[in-house]
Amino acid sequence: MTTASEQDRVLIFDTTLRDGEQSPGATMTHDEKLEIAGLLDDMGVDIIEAGFPIASEGDFNAVSEIAKNAKNSRICGLARANFADIDRCWEAVKHARQNRIHTFIGTSPLHRAIPNLTMDEMADKIHETVSHARNLCDNVQWSPMDATRTEWDYLCRVVEIAIKAGATTINIPDTVGYTAPVESADLIRRLIETVPGGDEVIFATHCHNDLGMATANSLAAVDGGARQIECTINGLGERAGNTALEEVVMALKVRNDIMPYRTRIDTTKIMHISRRVAAVSGFAVQFNKAIVGKNAFAHESGIHQDGMLKNAETFEIMRPEDVGLSGSSLPLGKHSGRAALRDKLNQLGYEVGDNQLKDIFVRFKALADRKKEVFDDDIMALVTTSTDPESDRLQLVSLRVLCGTGGPAEATLEMEIDGTDMTATQSGDGPVDATFRAVRELHPNKARLQLYQVHAVTEGTDAQATVSVRLEEDGIIATGQSADTDTVVASAKAYIHALNRLLVRREKTGPGADVREISYKDVT
Ligand code: KIV
Ligand code: ZN
Repeated sequence: MTTASEQDRVLIFDTTLRDGEQSPGATMTHDEKLEIAGLLDDMGVDIIEAGFPIASEGDFNAVSEIAKNAKNSRICGLARANFADIDRCWEAVKHARQNRIHTFIGTSPLHRAIPNLTMDEMADKIHETVSHARNLCDNVQWSPMDATRTEWDYLCRVVEIAIKAGATTINIPDTVGYTAPVESADLIRRLIETVPGGDEVIFATHCHNDLGMATANSLAAVDGGARQIECTINGLGERAGNTALEEVVMALKVRNDIMPYRTRIDTTKIMHISRRVAAVSGFAVQFNKAIVGKNAFAHESGIHQDGMLKNAETFEIMRPEDVGLSGSSLPLGKHSGRAALRDKLNQLGYEVGDNQLKDIFVRFKALADRKKEVFDDDIMALVTTSTDPESDRLQLVSLRVLCGTGGPAEATLEMEIDGTDMTATQSGDGPVDATFRAVRELHPNKARLQLYQVHAVTEGTDAQATVSVRLEEDGIIATGQSADTDTVVASAKAYIHALNRLLVRREKTGPGADVREISYKDVT
């Protein structure tokens, strides 16, 4: 028997570190994963899916350490439908005070064809693997991947088998983002009503955003009886991404009148974690993204500004403070000291150690010399791009660029490589191309440029630019970031930062050498 207050409670299951991190290019380092897991735990996420332990040593080590550090969240790992995956997953999550094994298999006709199993063979496999997981862990989640394209009768049959074998949560994934709200609600409602034992387990919803309906589909599923929403920060995830945590949580908060459900999330922590996930994944948040976009609370037009001054509710359905945006944005200047900087960092949600503060302070002073006012966004860009102490074999010493109309640009670049100063001059199609060529002359490499992105941090021609560069070499991906008032300098530093990280990842054999040999889609 569940009480009324248990019935209106929706569990938040965050999979930023698994489904999110698995999206091409979003790879995070070991330390970054630990940091994000800590923030998810602090903000009240009920279940953190910390990774896919059998996928690589790096994943295994990250899940184990997250499990050891977890304070309040339950830590979950993903496993395919075989004993080796499930055992490895248990080895990693068993350290947590509260743990979960999440095992899955693709049940739709297209997914059944991959391991070439008959319906009966797959049903047996589900029984064996869920029972095995349940013998190890008393909290087991089972997912029929591509559930929304699985035949109704077969879906009911396999869900019943999983419940009988001991699954405590049944997750219904819309793996390819195919469903729509009416269908999403109906599917969960009918499963709970039809499948024997369906009212004794928790049903979860896991939506992808291919048609832009992930949030709507997740909320509709809750209306149909789901009591766990699977989501990621910023909607990070494969293709068009997963349901965005901040969207479902804020929708339930703001429209509690028509969706009377509770979560445990401290919404004031949303902005900070959104920025950190954007920074470490290299996936910038689009300006007009709901809740966390740069413009989500900006009011530019005269009519809007006038209305806002009279009454903020004219154009705002939630307060910026509710998602952790500080109302005041008092700029720092070149006379501000280290204590003021630390204070500002704390207000913005950053706890930095003495060494990191020293690095940020030096760069803050350099920035304040060039820029009249240093805003909150500038400070956050400095934190996001502070250097990794363990990856500084290549360093930019100086850069001079000649460019103009009607000819190639020329870059003369001085770099320190393993302590030795070297200079190269290269021409290219624009200043950034010339600069990257000069870097490659000094440090030859075959890394492929997967992403090059520039963002102005604040307004004005003296604004800092943050540049993200993502490189790929032999399956290893590394992202570099930098900020500078000079876009070409920021680009050079971001490129060098990514190269440094590639070097570290290539050398490491322990945590962080995150080369996955298998895909979670190889089911058997
Ligand atoms: O989208 C999906 O089907 C998944 C499963 C592994 C749950 O991520
Ligand atoms: Zn997914």
